[in-house]
Amino acid sequence: MPAGRCEGFARNAHLAAVLLSLAGFVPAAASAEIKGDREFGAYLSSQCTTCHQVSGRTVGGVPSIVAWPEDQFIAVIMSYKEGQRDNETMRTISHSLSLEEIAALAAYFGSLKLAGQAQK
Ligand code: HEC
Repeated sequence: MPAGRCEGFARNAHLAAVLLSLAGFVPAAASAEIKGDREFGAYLSSQCTTCHQVSGRTVGGVPSIVAWPEDQFIAVIMSYKEGQRDNETMRTISHSLSLEEIAALAAYFGSLKLAGQAQK
């Protein structure tokens, strides 16, 4: 079997595991208690990093979203989703994200350091 197929299988198995574990979390979904899956967030992040820089630099008026506390990140995305913030682009994007995906993105982007930030 070519190696690529093995990797694809591993990722599917991983996703399935994520989905299964999330299924058990549904009742808690309304609170920010979900612990996002950072690897899943990294996988999803490609749809954000066309605009937002992983370095944390602000480019072309697109603000930094790295190194934020996870609960704050989730709250901001929810504010676009629920219409308290009305940026057209982010509203459209937030509507396409499930809570599990938002939590995963919060875990991933929260784990990134701003470029130039001291490593501890
Ligand atoms: C097409 C470009 C684009 C894409 C793709 C995009 N964003 Fe944004 N994002 C923006 C812009 C522009 C803003 C500033 C909006 C505003 O002024 O409210 C923003 C704002 C944000 C903010 C709030 C930043 C702040 O300082 O308040 C967060 C959090 C965020 N985006 C997360 C994401 C995530 C997560 C994704 C991927 C799922 C994503 N964005 C994809 C353009 C984009």
